[in-house]
Amino acid sequence: MPGGTNRRALNSDGNPVITTTDLTKVYRSRGREVTALDGVDLHVREGEVYGVVGQSGAGKSTLIRCVNLLERPTSGTVTVAGQDLTALAGRRQSAGSALRQARSRIGMVFQHFNLVSSRTVRDNVELPLEILGVSGKERTRKALELLELVGLGDKARAYPAQLSGGQKQRVGIARALAGDPKVLLSDEATSALDPETTRSILQLLRDLNEQLGLTVLLITHEMDVVKTICDSAALMRDGRIVESGKVSELLATPGSELAQELFPVGGVASSEDRTVVDVTFQGEAATKPVISQLSRTYNIDISILGAAMDTVGGHQVGRMRIELPGRFEENVVPIGFLREQGLQVDVAAIADGPRANPTPLLKEGAK
Ligand SMILES: Nc1ncnc2c1ncn2[C@@H]1O[C@H](COP(=O)(O)OP(=O)(O)OP(=O)(O)O)[C@@H](O)[C@H]1O
Ligand SMILES: [Mg+2]
Repeated sequence: MPGGTNRRALNSDGNPVITTTDLTKVYRSRGREVTALDGVDLHVREGEVYGVVGQSGAGKSTLIRCVNLLERPTSGTVTVAGQDLTALAGRRQSAGSALRQARSRIGMVFQHFNLVSSRTVRDNVELPLEILGVSGKERTRKALELLELVGLGDKARAYPAQLSGGQKQRVGIARALAGDPKVLLSDEATSALDPETTRSILQLLRDLNEQLGLTVLLITHEMDVVKTICDSAALMRDGRIVESGKVSELLATPGSELAQELFPVGGVASSEDRTVVDVTFQGEAATKPVISQLSRTYNIDISILGAAMDTVGGHQVGRMRIELPGRFEENVVPIGFLREQGLQVDVAAIADGPRANPTPLLKEGAK
């Protein structure tokens, strides 16, 4: 067990463990067609926590259900841990058992826990092992070990009705881990829980990710979940992924909708004769007093138009929209100073006049 593995290092060049290629799902009912997935290419690397966000109806649940073939894609492929699940599902004969085996390596956690109320906690966790044909003694050993792992060692004999929501979800997670999956899928696992319980469940998912090297693909509508545990994220709209990448990279991408959702900064220039700059602070740079250094070094007055600081994946990250006196041409040197400090600098709006030093970070259409 790679305990204490450095999550960040694991992610940076991990192999893809979940890949979907041009995944499409069209629901047909009573002559009507709904395109729930419209050519989705998803790449989740080994050992990362990957969040999918998007509005209701965007296709998030359909995507996750297609990843473990609970839902049959209309076209496209799904590969998990090197196995093409769509090919397994495609073969008529014996496809069932091959697909079942492959699925046992994919754990699934549900919003409403989906526990069997007539079974004890231990028997709920044993259920997938029964289906896999594991012997009684081994099943019990494994179930108790997993309950210990999720902090419910003392609840083995309880029934679901006797547990709190957070405890039920812990049972759901233990059950999902029964087949020693490489991948855990979670569809809104915390949205039925209060904020405190949500935090503890997210912490558990993160611990499992770190201790077991488990790859987690989760769906959420809460940006806080992304901030707290996700290494990477994708934004879905109308069945498509419209933005995706490592959270740290998205934060540094000018015009990123996800970054704006995670760290909303607003504010417009107070006059034409000003330069508005969005600064993203990450890692070491987040702790340096760069703005006051900038002000002192160049003897300029800086206005802060908006700011948001938070912790993402255990690292401090922030965005700030500042206003510098003078037009862009007059601020080339101060902006260079900020970049030299390791900050991501995005010139959000430029007073009229040609750009003296166009940069790829400028937003399209910025004037
Ligand atoms: N079994 C189904 N039959 C027909 N249409 C469906 C079916 N399941 C989902 N859809 C449609 O597919 C689209 C995507 O649904 P999906 O459940 O994937 O959205 P979602 O992003 O998970 O939304 P939410 O945040 O509300 O859970 C929606 O328009 C939905 O109505
Ligand atoms: Mg859904």
